[in-house]
Amino acid sequence: MEVKRAISERRSIRAFKSNPVAEEVVKELIELANMAPSAGNLQAREFIVVRDDKTKEALAAAALNQTFISQVPVCIVVCVNYERIAPYGERGRELYVFHDTGAAIQNMLLAVHDMGLGAVWVGAFNEGPVKEMLNLPEHIRPVAIIPVGHPIEQPRMRSRRGTSDILRKESW
Ligand SMILES: Cc1cc2nc3c(=O)[nH]c(=O)nc-3n(C[C@H](O)[C@H](O)[C@H](O)COP(=O)(O)O)c2cc1C
Repeated sequence: MEVKRAISERRSIRAFKSNPVAEEVVKELIELANMAPSAGNLQAREFIVVRDDKTKEALAAAALNQTFISQVPVCIVVCVNYERIAPYGERGRELYVFHDTGAAIQNMLLAVHDMGLGAVWVGAFNEGPVKEMLNLPEHIRPVAIIPVGHPIEQPRMRSRRGTSDILRKESW
């Protein structure tokens, strides 16, 4: 699929069939996610694949009861790895890690769409319970949960601000 088409067609999907998503597909999604740029190519990001029903239910509960999280075949939890970004000091810790993970997440969402699957970027969750249930060490911070499955909805495009609203002309 053409990149421009994937970018324009992608939507957040929150309703899924129960059909499984194969292990190789998930592996490819993670590889494509990690093709995204990262500060100094340090790739300060990690991915956790959750298929276990109980853990998905616990993730949904931690994510303010966003129940679709427990209704997908697989969730990919995207995490920052603070040890890897250490060479960049405070700017790395406070900024680059979110560039690194955000770019990877967007790659993943576009690849999901290209494969005919659906996903949504979930950022609203309580980190404490997620860290605990996934047994994450101090330097690993979960930043997004990406439920992935076969879509049963085709949402319309959510509106976007017009260019005049997002372009600071004074800045040329
Ligand atoms: C940082 C971030 C956090 C988000 N958190 C959630 C979330 O917790 N739950 C959810 O359903 N969607 C979440 N979204 C998805 C947005 O609601 C969605 O991208 C936006 O409404 C635009 O819709 P679209 O993705 O279909 O274009 C999040 C998106 C981003 C970038």
